[in-house]
Amino acid sequence: MKKIIYIFAIFALLAVTGFIFFKSFRGITPRATVANNSELYEKQNFNHADMIQLPSPDTKGKMSLEEALTLRRSIRSYTSEELTLKELSQLLWSAQGVTNERGFRTAPSAGATFPLEMFVVANNVEQLKQGIYHYNPFENTLEVKHLKDVSSDLMRASLSQSMLAEGAAVLVFGAVFERTTDRYGERGERYVYNEIGHASQNVHLQAAALNLGTVVIGAYRDDEVENILELDSEIRVLYMMPVGRPR
Ligand SMILES: Cc1cc2nc3c(=O)[nH]c(=O)nc-3n(C[C@H](O)[C@H](O)[C@H](O)COP(=O)(O)O)c2cc1C
Repeated sequence: MKKIIYIFAIFALLAVTGFIFFKSFRGITPRATVANNSELYEKQNFNHADMIQLPSPDTKGKMSLEEALTLRRSIRSYTSEELTLKELSQLLWSAQGVTNERGFRTAPSAGATFPLEMFVVANNVEQLKQGIYHYNPFENTLEVKHLKDVSSDLMRASLSQSMLAEGAAVLVFGAVFERTTDRYGERGERYVYNEIGHASQNVHLQAAALNLGTVVIGAYRDDEVENILELDSEIRVLYMMPVGRPR
């Protein structure tokens, strides 16, 4: 009997130590590395055969940050020219690109919980069929979700804002709130909204530096947009940014 109690006590001790160890590292471990690469991706049934490797993003540009800040403006009218894959890669990287070996990103994230998932609606992008794609920041790839033209549906769901159909691409900012609220409770919601602001401003400045036009779109019917894009039920769309060459 004594032996059983000893064994039980050792197991309990190991379990408690493991739990404390896990908890203490949660604040610095990019949980999204786990969530993104396995849990979420598996849940969404991405067809890994349909992956597009994006060109490597540049980490040096032609325009200074100060110039980009001065030039940044909401631009709502675009030419019909296509967006290059390199430009799209650069924009996605500016939003959520991985910039160190721990999986940390171009935008800050509360407790490194990384709630954001980027999607692209490709309307007129070099080498991409019209459709909806998911950005994998770890692999720098796009995963094909659905190959279909959603441009006019998206425009209608966004109070007929024509930029959604005219943009060569629309960057969609999705968020899995639970990744952050699991850690921070209700306050985590605020953090997710904060984070969307960081990531979208990065895209705004990156677009300015590439002489591209964009605008943040907050006015749309949430459920309708999420249905059109056929996103997983845990993903909320918090912003959309159409991108094109300024007319
Ligand atoms: C939260 C938020 C939501 C917005 N939603 C829209 C929108 O749905 N459609 C739009 O055309 N502009 C939208 N904008 C862009 C603003 O209209 C724009 O930033 C403002 O007119 C200032 O112009 P600027 O961005 O050129 O400085 C939004 C901006 C913010 C911050």
